[in-house]
Amino acid sequence: MTAPVGKDLERVRAEAQEAVRRLREQRPTLDDLSIDVILTNARSHYAWQDKPVSTELLHRLYEITAGGPTSMNTCPARFIFVTSDAGKQRLAKSLKAKNIDKMMDAPVTAIIAHDLEFWRDLPFLFPHEDRRPHFEGKPEHSETTAFRNGTLQGAYFMIAARALGLDVGAMSGFSNEIVDQEFFAGTTLKSNFLCNLGYADESALFQKLPRFPFDKVCSFA
Ligand SMILES: Cc1cc2nc3c(=O)[nH]c(=O)nc-3n(C[C@H](O)[C@H](O)[C@H](O)COP(=O)(O)O)c2cc1C
Repeated sequence: MTAPVGKDLERVRAEAQEAVRRLREQRPTLDDLSIDVILTNARSHYAWQDKPVSTELLHRLYEITAGGPTSMNTCPARFIFVTSDAGKQRLAKSLKAKNIDKMMDAPVTAIIAHDLEFWRDLPFLFPHEDRRPHFEGKPEHSETTAFRNGTLQGAYFMIAARALGLDVGAMSGFSNEIVDQEFFAGTTLKSNFLCNLGYADESALFQKLPRFPFDKVCSFA
């Protein structure tokens, strides 16, 4: 564990505060079109152009995703990019029939997983205090934390992909047990959901479905 102390700590804190101030000044908000691209008018996709996604772009996608917050900076998500024919065949075994073509035709399908023993890395991720005792020997708490934060990271991943000009199509219509047997046997990783990535063929889209208005689902307390 190497956390800065004393003068070093004062310096890194001042630098972090200044960096946030500068960023807020440079870009106080995203414009409406950018917000459309990442959320408001973004769509889930089901068919794909025959256009590859570069490994460099997947690296950039991970780096942006990793900037999102998780509790205690636990970062439990793990991303397995399935791109090979052999990998796709293994993944196909787990899928509901209607999802097979959507996955097979996508240049990349990410398995969004989480590591139930994420807490072993806390000395690196949260170095100023040893928080491993919060999780060690507490599998239920570890699992809840891994699932909650891994799901959030999966959402950051989809938004980051859209921000980079990629299209996404998440899928939960598959057997987690089969994916876990195929890809994570003998490890502490568990699958959460799948996410197809690529450049969409939008001719497969139907209309955007309604969302609830503010008053139905938001309240004040
Ligand atoms: C976690 C998750 C799982 C999903 N699973 C599937 C799936 O298995 N098959 C499918 O065709 N669509 C799946 N979808 C797509 C949703 O049905 C879609 O996001 C929703 O209808 C809203 O459409 P829109 O994103 O285009 O606005 C999934 C989406 C998410 C976020």
